[in-house]
Amino acid sequence: MIIAVDGPLAAGKGTISKALAAHYGLPHMDTGKLYRGVAYRLLAQGLSPHDQAAAAGVAKSLSMQGIEDEALRTAEVGAAASVVAANQAVRQALFHLQRDFALQPGGAVLDGRDIGTVVCPEADVKLYVSASPEERARRRQAELSAMGEEISYETMLAQTIERDTRDSGRADAPLRPAEDSHLLDTTGLSIEAAVDKARLIVDQVRSAKG
Ligand code: C5P
Repeated sequence: MIIAVDGPLAAGKGTISKALAAHYGLPHMDTGKLYRGVAYRLLAQGLSPHDQAAAAGVAKSLSMQGIEDEALRTAEVGAAASVVAANQAVRQALFHLQRDFALQPGGAVLDGRDIGTVVCPEADVKLYVSASPEERARRRQAELSAMGEEISYETMLAQTIERDTRDSGRADAPLRPAEDSHLLDTTGLSIEAAVDKARLIVDQVRSAKG
């Protein structure tokens, strides 16, 4: 079974995907990490995420080894990831890594922006997880604060909206729900309630397919 989980920044898709993977005994890939990995490597070399040729080169030979999770989660790397994600050559290079992961025997859970639309259009279950920009900005602010990065709510909200606009406005694989995706709005929901809803959707789709 392939489960595709897409949605904007801090909608809860990472938490939901991990919980689904554990529940159904499937491997999980956070595909945003690949884009963040490219951004991280560029920044570490003093290169701009807008340098298209450099970003493509990094993506083609991407190794995630030696990059700490925390280093990938910073606001700077996240913003740069969204810039490199608009680069078609980068998307092409990362496509194969994601596709190979999805096609392993038994299936997988992948979360990102274009899993249901581009990477795995044949996924058995597609979830599109969203939440209001205000709630997502608050969640992200708390997440960054827990890592020692203090950003005001106003700045976080502006960054969230800017990222949404860039991710959904790009020409290649823009962020949008697949036509056959199930919408899950996590605004005001606890983690447990959001995960329960996601599991219910997966179980319903599976039983409907027999
Ligand atoms: O999900 P996360 O915030 O870690 O992703 C970072 C950036 O990577 C996103 O803003 C988006 O631009 C890009 N991304 C993407 N396609 C994916 C996953 C992430 O374009 N499947």
